[in-house]
Amino acid sequence: MKKIFFSTTLVFLHLLTLQSQNKKPLYKDKNKPIEERIDNLISLMTLDEKIMQLNQWTYGKNANPNNIGEKMKAVRPEIGSLLYRSTNPEFRNQIQKKAMTESRLGIPIIFGFDAIHGYRTVFPIPLAQACSWNTDLVKQSCTITAKESWLSGLDWTFSPMLDVARDARWGRVSEGYGEDTFANASFAVAAVQGYQGNNLADKYTIAACLKHYIGYSLSEGGRDYHYSDISNQTLWETFMPPFEAGIHAGAATVMSGFNDISGVPASANHYTLTEVLKNKWKHDGFVISDWGSVRNLVEQSVAKDLKEASMKAFLAGVEMDMVDNAYMDYLPQLVAEGKVPIATIDEAVRRILRVKMKLGLFENPYVDVVTEKKRYLLPNYLKVAEELAAESMVLLKNESATLPITSKYKDLAIIGPMVKDSVHIMGFWEGMGQPEDVETIYEGLEKEFKNKVKLHYALGCDFDGNDKSGFEAALEAVKKSDAVLVFLGEKRNWSGENGSRSTIALPKIQEELVSELRKAGKPIILMLSSGRPLELIRLNEMADAIVEIWQPGTKAGSSVAGILSGRHNPSGKLSITFPQATGQIPIYYNMRESARPKLGHYQDIPRDPLYWFGHGLSYTTYDYSPIQLSADKITKNEKLIAEIEVTNSGEVQGKETVLWFIQDPFATISRPMKELKYFEKKEIKKGKKVIYRFDIDPIRDLSYVDSFGNRHLETGDFYIIVNNQKIKFELVN
Ligand code: BGC
Repeated sequence: MKKIFFSTTLVFLHLLTLQSQNKKPLYKDKNKPIEERIDNLISLMTLDEKIMQLNQWTYGKNANPNNIGEKMKAVRPEIGSLLYRSTNPEFRNQIQKKAMTESRLGIPIIFGFDAIHGYRTVFPIPLAQACSWNTDLVKQSCTITAKESWLSGLDWTFSPMLDVARDARWGRVSEGYGEDTFANASFAVAAVQGYQGNNLADKYTIAACLKHYIGYSLSEGGRDYHYSDISNQTLWETFMPPFEAGIHAGAATVMSGFNDISGVPASANHYTLTEVLKNKWKHDGFVISDWGSVRNLVEQSVAKDLKEASMKAFLAGVEMDMVDNAYMDYLPQLVAEGKVPIATIDEAVRRILRVKMKLGLFENPYVDVVTEKKRYLLPNYLKVAEELAAESMVLLKNESATLPITSKYKDLAIIGPMVKDSVHIMGFWEGMGQPEDVETIYEGLEKEFKNKVKLHYALGCDFDGNDKSGFEAALEAVKKSDAVLVFLGEKRNWSGENGSRSTIALPKIQEELVSELRKAGKPIILMLSSGRPLELIRLNEMADAIVEIWQPGTKAGSSVAGILSGRHNPSGKLSITFPQATGQIPIYYNMRESARPKLGHYQDIPRDPLYWFGHGLSYTTYDYSPIQLSADKITKNEKLIAEIEVTNSGEVQGKETVLWFIQDPFATISRPMKELKYFEKKEIKKGKKVIYRFDIDPIRDLSYVDSFGNRHLETGDFYIIVNNQKIKFELVN
């Protein structure tokens, strides 16, 4: 006690001396190296000031209905972070001013928020974004999100979500980049670069947060927040690579998940949080708990009370406590009792201060204040929103060239609960997106087909329920038309957090509507808006064409209309498999082969899913040349070049993504049937050819990881797989 009093007095005297000499303390000198500044600042901080840095409070009501919003609290100027649910930059600046002037050391607050697929300009949900295979557009959307967010008072977004998801019952499948590890890793890099820019200290950039570390998507049965049983092999092979890629791309922060990983919850997991993230990957930023995930350690029965939960989470490597006040309430006692070393507190504070310093918050604690008109929904933002939405949409089926809508159609029936919707079409985590900003599908169609096609609208039915009273009017509209566009789908909170469903089929009423409309014998074009893959086993039969439009966001209308008219040629390919039926889950393209490949499938449904990962049609046709290899044998230090020439042999220009897979048919640890290793999307004009090239680096592309995270490269045969082609090469000593 005496010692603490003595050192606090010394610090105080030191500050007084500096003040009397009118000299800035070293930590305020931006020309000094960051680590020296942090050393200096930590040496001046009291234990209370340190612990306050480790807390995040919520300012304003959290719109996420799963997180019961806290009432506004009197913000202590020493607080480390605020989850800032306001779009008001001036208010942020006022709060920040309090921190800068009313706290003893003037440490800025870091303001965070969930800008997941846009802030005010809402982009398609991440699952859809991944179907675009356009990392550049995804990066641009994140740059825009960062700018809108920063100008609204934010320094930090809780995005991207990198939970590789293979169970579409889990609602949060909408928030990530689908079922493939490499795809998640690629979009992780794009998102981090987009949010963080070249230098976090620049204006308009915000810190990214990779979440939910780790394995959250494997919760049993797709029930959100549930236990996840993950072998170390799966952890390393499937779940770690996207996080590792995001860390190497420079992600400033990481969020620890809610899930219990095989008995050790993600928010108390020393192995994943410290041994891997900090020691092996050398992440120098900080980890924040998920909303209440420190407190949840009690529910998960690894801590007897909140005090023990705080100790476990903190010692495992969670530096900042979101919302629980647990660190604030218990770390002082835990330090006094010698259960938490002061050195660990210092290290955690150091990590948080490092991110704040990198953001330039000490020098520039305030954001610019400009009018909302200059801040949001700028024309170039909306252009990216439309392009990304259009490129995300997947043409699943198109019998007899039913689409696009050409002059062959004079009258179109436009039916369904999605047509005039402006809420559900934004998807879950719509940021600060407003329904009044959304261009509805109906508005988009009116604009696109004005004076060309007569539209006959009817609601048909609601999203769910049993009310069939709208069927008759819908059938009347169909009778007047040459084809029927039926816009079906999910409400926004049927996916997203706490949005698990026992079936991924649409409610019966929506399927019944389609069977009713079919009676008129007109072509049926199904337009599906959902936050997950759907069970389409019955609907697929009834439709001539199907487009999965996902939840496209602010520019829903013109992106959908453009796809229908052919102004946008569909180029999306599925980032996640559509099973035949819910009971077929999990089914994903890179499964391990069964012992008896021809046997053991469900007897009541076809063996394959309805639409595999990678499936997606276009209005043009692409012819693939045979794969060319630079050699048929290589050693591990040589590169192998694989090329393929793709010709656009159809009538319109398009964008084609080539997905390159590798198969390792025999290894000490069994390998999946094939694994995506590279992809590239390119525009190809009508009648033109374009070469796609994949430079295979054996150490990167042919090795595999074991259950300790060590990589192995074994010689032998490998295959490259593109579309239906498969070509062999050999890795030799
Ligand atoms: C979610 C996170 C989110 C956090 C803050 C939690 O409930 O799981 O993804 O970032 O809330 O809103």
